[in-house]
Amino acid sequence: MTDLDSSILLALLVAADEPVSGDRLAKELGVSRVAIWSRLERLRAAGFTFAASTRKGYRLKGVPRALHPALLDAHLRRLKVTARVDLLATVDSTNSEAERRLAVGQEAPFAVLAQAQTAGRGRLGRRWHSGKTGNLYLSLAFRPFIGPERLKPFTLWMGLALCAHLEAAVGVKLGLKWPNDLLAADGRKVAGMLTEARLDADSVRELVFGVGLNITGAPKDFPAELRAIAGSLERAAGVRLDPNRVAAETIAALFDAWEAFAEDQWRREFKTRWARYDTLTGKSVRIGLRGSPLAGVVDGIDDEGSLILRTGGRRRQVVASGEVTLRKP
Ligand code: BTN
Repeated sequence: MTDLDSSILLALLVAADEPVSGDRLAKELGVSRVAIWSRLERLRAAGFTFAASTRKGYRLKGVPRALHPALLDAHLRRLKVTARVDLLATVDSTNSEAERRLAVGQEAPFAVLAQAQTAGRGRLGRRWHSGKTGNLYLSLAFRPFIGPERLKPFTLWMGLALCAHLEAAVGVKLGLKWPNDLLAADGRKVAGMLTEARLDADSVRELVFGVGLNITGAPKDFPAELRAIAGSLERAAGVRLDPNRVAAETIAALFDAWEAFAEDQWRREFKTRWARYDTLTGKSVRIGLRGSPLAGVVDGIDDEGSLILRTGGRRRQVVASGEVTLRKP
């Protein structure tokens, strides 16, 4: 029964600083005042705080630090997100869960997120640390039916859209490290993206875009080997964030970014956003994936999102994917 909780929270979110009376909530939601009161008590026990005055009513004062289904839902309703969004307590990997749901025919687009993952996946077969504290594990699923060649710039576009959204919504300018990392100004990684697709010869049948975004997790919440390189949105912003608001707004922004991509309305903004958020152009890097690593200076990307590298003797190499490390100047 999170529907009533979510409706109460939505009314309080929309009213913002204006108190809403128990009477009004009861009338608008078609339940008794006692029902409203008992839901508010239950929400209090889950970490919400309400400012209550007998004459004026309730204001939402404090929210839980963890993802909460009713609050997330209230934000999604406020933002008019119509796609199905499911928050799970724990799952192996939200990407795997999205793939399973696509396989059994769940209507797309949809999103799955989880409070923790037991087998979170990173790029190149790596594990993605997926503890319970402060992180968003989110996958968006689509059945695009577009040609496979159109998919190449997709992850970069989504990453740039995420940078633009977070700068506008949270006031944090993250940088995009090609091809899939979002970095804070101090170089700490705040988010990573993993796109997985099922293709046939002419079209992309199923597409899952996964993002791990550290909203509030502190370095101590990470294993020792990640403490020096993991950053968080909250640390980068220097302000306290509401994870449920951030999660819902991020979901809405990513669905919008997908729509622009699917409708081929993304190219102009791609260029401006690349110019604003790219962290590699002009840098001396080494790129490794398969075979021998390449070293050179990054000279931007081509129309498909491949990295252009100037190697020795001003030779130009185009690299479609790989792992970039910066070289000391
Ligand atoms: C990377 O930087 O290597 C990519 C990390 C992607 C992690 C996210 S968390 C949500 C989704 N589910 C997964 O198992 N992986 C992605």
